[in-house]
Amino acid sequence: MGTGAHATHARQEADSLVRVTEVGAPVPFGAVAPPDSDPPSTALAGRRLLVVGASSGIGRALALEAAASGAAVALTARRLALLEQVAAEAGSRAVALPCDVSDPSACSILADEAAAALDGLDAVLYVAGAAYLGPLAQASAASWRAMLATNVVGAALVTAGALPYLRSAPAPVVAYVSSHSVRRPWPGLVPYAASKAALETMALGLRAEEPWLRVLRVSVGPTITGFSDRWDPAVAGPAFERWAAEGYLVHEPQEASDTARRIVAALADGTGPDDIEVIGPEAG
Ligand SMILES: NC(=O)c1ccc[n+]([C@@H]2O[C@H](COP(=O)([O-])OP(=O)(O)OC[C@H]3O[C@@H](n4cnc5c(N)ncnc54)[C@H](OP(=O)(O)O)[C@@H]3O)[C@@H](O)[C@H]2O)c1
Repeated sequence: MGTGAHATHARQEADSLVRVTEVGAPVPFGAVAPPDSDPPSTALAGRRLLVVGASSGIGRALALEAAASGAAVALTARRLALLEQVAAEAGSRAVALPCDVSDPSACSILADEAAAALDGLDAVLYVAGAAYLGPLAQASAASWRAMLATNVVGAALVTAGALPYLRSAPAPVVAYVSSHSVRRPWPGLVPYAASKAALETMALGLRAEEPWLRVLRVSVGPTITGFSDRWDPAVAGPAFERWAAEGYLVHEPQEASDTARRIVAALADGTGPDDIEVIGPEAG
């Protein structure tokens, strides 16, 4: 889909789906909720968030948790029907903006569309990700490129498009969802781990280049989603057996809603660390 067609289509979808209404006056992330209110429902009150990869799994849960915490959310991914469902569930301050982040022209206008729909932008949460499963020796150039396009280049281009809007936000944030496998790449997921390492390094560099911007790196452990649904069972079966036998599957898988709740808590806590681990059950 070309840029113009994409913009028109996305705008029509935005208009015909869930209208964005009553986006509150901007307040900084981490603002303390009024004592007489319910903290989970106001922690992100007035925030305008672009959630990339919001059609399923962690991104879907994150979009719903952020909306439940008072944020207005622009939701993006490729599967429009799922996005529509998430937007409807998220409520009246949600809008669906279909986008394939492996398409550079779509990435370059995504923030424009989100900012137009939300009347500005306070945060970008980049959750979209894909993983090639198979030995490094068999990974084709095409599979490398496809994964890097989604996991790294898309993140960079969406961020670049969002910077002008974030610059005028009171407490701007970008957050990138990475993987704990960066530290110890799982056999069969080496290109994936390498792509997430690139994403993390990109985020570090962004911190240096744009010191006015809060850049969160979120290292996520095993989470119950459909992330591996597209893997070939003939390859995935032996891979899971090996991971179990060699101690890669040591962390208890978390519900996506729990992972999302912990990420939203980190977003809302403007004083917290900028490198966050969401791996296994929450301490304490
Ligand atoms: N689940 C885990 O155990 C785990 C562990 C560590 C890190 N992670 C990371 O968590 C993130 C979310 O994964 P998940 O587990 O929630 O799996 P998921 O349900 O498959 O979510 C992946 C999301 O990325 C979107 N996406 C993929 N390719 C895209 C593209 N080209 N353009 C736009 N959106 C795209 C998908 O939407 P569409 O298909 O509709 O486009 C979907 O919303 C990923 O970055 C993953 O690497 C997951």
